[in-house]
Amino acid sequence: MATIRPRRSSWWCVMVMAMAMVVVASGASGPRGPLRMGFYAQSCPGVERMVGDFVRQHVRRVPTVAAALLRLHFHDCFVRGCDASVLLNSTAAGVAEKDAPPNLTLRGFDFVDRVKALVEEACPGVVSCADVLALAARDAVAAIVRKLVPGGPSWRVATGRRDGTVSSMMEALNEIPKPTMSFRELVDLFASKGLGVRDLVWLSGAHTIGIAHCSSFADRLYGYPGAGAGNDTTDPSLDATYAANLRRRKCRAPSGGYAEDAVVEMDPGSHLTFDVGYYRAVLKHRALFRSDAALLADAAARADVEGVVGGPDEVFFQVFARSMARMSTVEVKIGAEGEIRRNCAVVNGG
Ligand code: HEM
Repeated sequence: MATIRPRRSSWWCVMVMAMAMVVVASGASGPRGPLRMGFYAQSCPGVERMVGDFVRQHVRRVPTVAAALLRLHFHDCFVRGCDASVLLNSTAAGVAEKDAPPNLTLRGFDFVDRVKALVEEACPGVVSCADVLALAARDAVAAIVRKLVPGGPSWRVATGRRDGTVSSMMEALNEIPKPTMSFRELVDLFASKGLGVRDLVWLSGAHTIGIAHCSSFADRLYGYPGAGAGNDTTDPSLDATYAANLRRRKCRAPSGGYAEDAVVEMDPGSHLTFDVGYYRAVLKHRALFRSDAALLADAAARADVEGVVGGPDEVFFQVFARSMARMSTVEVKIGAEGEIRRNCAVVNGG
């Protein structure tokens, strides 16, 4: 039996109505689990404003900080939950997440340390690094967007996360999604974190800001398996003109191949603007990773991508914000679990 798909023009109206119903429902039940809004209202009043002011001030001057904080928060939440384990240094006892290959390109550790130092000065030993990161990521996204609309791209961050005391390189290797992953692999990985297919589609929209090293997608430019002979073979699912351009210019080293530190804007022309540009690139086969291109491999995901491109940025803002709110509660530690780290890079007494 043929299925009826909403027309593109009406797709985002349907999404807005569906989201409005979800917002009403979730407003009635409150934030998930024992995290709660205003957790620090008595113990550190003003902490959210302190973090917000600091982040806004810096992101306005250096907008690339926003992408760094958003990715840090994502990588934190996907390994042992949002417990700031990504911020811990390696020790004699073991190599930490921070030093796992997918995390070597993370930025923003110093920035988080500066926010945490500010918070520690006001309220020593009270606010977790995990909460500082969750708040900073939210405020950074809100700070780079041209205009905030009701519902997005800002989201309510319930607080009360505790910091973990374990950080393992191997776990990061296994749990952080790889840019070479297929749609099915990504869906399964997200499901293991309690996130759905639509969360995968909307959270991938984070790639509307930031940069990627050529090394992260070089497999699609050089010697792609099955693409033909020689070293100039590219992934046929990548737009040929764009691929040739990347090979000739951005990802080319004089000695051949690509320079280790060469970077490319993930949403060319608007990598500092939070908008639907990323999804446009996906549809034009100009997204950098196979994991981005994979969103077109599934009919429903593809329909969502087409729908969000056909609607105003506001719809993307809202669905992104809702998925971020969900991601920021993945496997959080609460109550007596973990600790409140004084220094985000080392466990207390370490
Ligand atoms: C769906 C699976 C995902 C994969 C495979 C993936 C992979 C990657 C890779 C390989 C990079 C480039 C790193 C580099 O070369 O420097 C990157 C950058 C980035 N990712 Fe993702 N990512 C995924 C989902 C997400 C999600 C869910 C978020 C946030 C909610 C996110 C936020 C970012 C940001 C903001 C950057 C740019 C960082 C910067 O400018 O330093 N990604 N991602």
